[in-house]
Amino acid sequence: MSEEQQRAPYLEQWLAYVDECVIPFTTPGHKQGRGAPPEFVAAFGERALALDIPHDGGTFDAHLEHDPLVAAERLAAALWGARDAVFLVNGSTTGNLAALLTLGRPGQPIVVTRAMHKSLLAGLVLSGARPVYVVPAVHPESGILLDLPPESVAQALAAWPDATAVALVSPTYTGVTSDTAELAALCHAHGVPLFVDEAWGPHLPFHPALPAAAIPSGADLAVTSLHKLAGSLTQTALLLMAGNLVDQAQLRAATAMVQTTSPAAFLYASLDAARRRLALEGEQLLARTLELAEHARRELAAIPGLEVVGPEIVAGRPGAGFDRTRLVVDVQGFGLTGLEVKRILRRDFRIAAEMADLVSVVFLITIGDTPETIAALVAAFRALAADRTRPDCAAGRRAVRALLRSTGPIVAGAPQAMTPREAFFAPAERVPLADAVGRVAAEPVTPYPPGIPVLAPGEVVRPEVVEFLQAGRAAGMRFNGASDPTLATLRVVRA
Ligand SMILES: Cc1ncc(COP(=O)(O)O)c(C=O)c1O
Repeated sequence: MSEEQQRAPYLEQWLAYVDECVIPFTTPGHKQGRGAPPEFVAAFGERALALDIPHDGGTFDAHLEHDPLVAAERLAAALWGARDAVFLVNGSTTGNLAALLTLGRPGQPIVVTRAMHKSLLAGLVLSGARPVYVVPAVHPESGILLDLPPESVAQALAAWPDATAVALVSPTYTGVTSDTAELAALCHAHGVPLFVDEAWGPHLPFHPALPAAAIPSGADLAVTSLHKLAGSLTQTALLLMAGNLVDQAQLRAATAMVQTTSPAAFLYASLDAARRRLALEGEQLLARTLELAEHARRELAAIPGLEVVGPEIVAGRPGAGFDRTRLVVDVQGFGLTGLEVKRILRRDFRIAAEMADLVSVVFLITIGDTPETIAALVAAFRALAADRTRPDCAAGRRAVRALLRSTGPIVAGAPQAMTPREAFFAPAERVPLADAVGRVAAEPVTPYPPGIPVLAPGEVVRPEVVEFLQAGRAAGMRFNGASDPTLATLRVVRA
């Protein structure tokens, strides 16, 4: 590790500003907490508010010869093996928007995974690019989304030789990684850049037992949410660029267009500190995290009624990987949906799960976990398994299974009538959900989490999607993006 990685230039300058006791006539108007609501100051802390200053606007960097952000981003780029790194303060969402504004062209094809996060879809609307959707493999029994088969990308690139780029998500929310090296080689043979939404993979480069990260595998652009799994504050992420296929100036300009003009310095400082910690201690921290996750996996798998997804999910899929820090617990054997178990864990055991769907609950094991947090999780599941008063929802279970079978890969195969941008701006009308079959969706509908749109603007609404939405609503799924949150109606392009 280079000596430089021991420094945290942004963190140092930010702390120095506060120690200087400058009198600010700048934003934020709370002026280091003096104008903030007293109860908020009491809750958040005086020091925290004194440290809430914006990066821009001449607050603390105006008199400095060198912007510490430049040095901090350079160190992050070096650590992730990238040519350039951009600090993001609105999550990987900003990176996905900037990536599609850089790689997409209005009306021109771009190969995109259909299992995209809703922010990639927003990038399609903003850029006007014409998505050529490719679909990941689906695990036949669990319905879990797997890796993106390189053959499907090869076919798409052959069919659309004017495609401007390929964009995929790896790892998935449930920890499955695609064969990024193979996909990068394929893209480069066609002269197009590979963009990886690696929101769930900021820790990957730091332990050999984790799947390979995107940039070292040959991706040209990647976005990764350090806030999710690498110890930095909520909203912080990195946009990483390598090689020569992405226009660096355009990427910087696009990011500036979609990112706030008042980034909080504490968010940048948090990224700088997290980068230093990963550089110095990443492997050791992740070794412990992996041990804790393995322990939890073993203990939970021994509880009757539970199945814990592991690396066997990608068995026989060359190049695909699995992040063992992700605990995906299939609770179908409990006769409850994942959504129900998530609610019970929160209500009765003060355990907060990251996400749930109809069949499973997902837990993130990170560098912030301890043997005690893992013991609490295992104890909660043991108590739930032993609870004989639990309702027997065998009928519910059958319904869930039937739903999974009938919808299959719900994101696959929707006919596209328009680009997302054309549909988003087309004259639209609202119709009852059941009447939307056969119409072109004007708005996205996204169960959140995991944030993958089941309906994207421009797609023809299929009966199985309506059935999925109705069943999901009844099972307590939350939907994001639809203008009618009850989903009684849907906005469709006017006939
Ligand atoms: C695959 C994927 N990409 C991007 C994002 C957006 O990340 P952020 O919340 O950091 O904006 C998410 C969030 O869950 C995600 O799951």
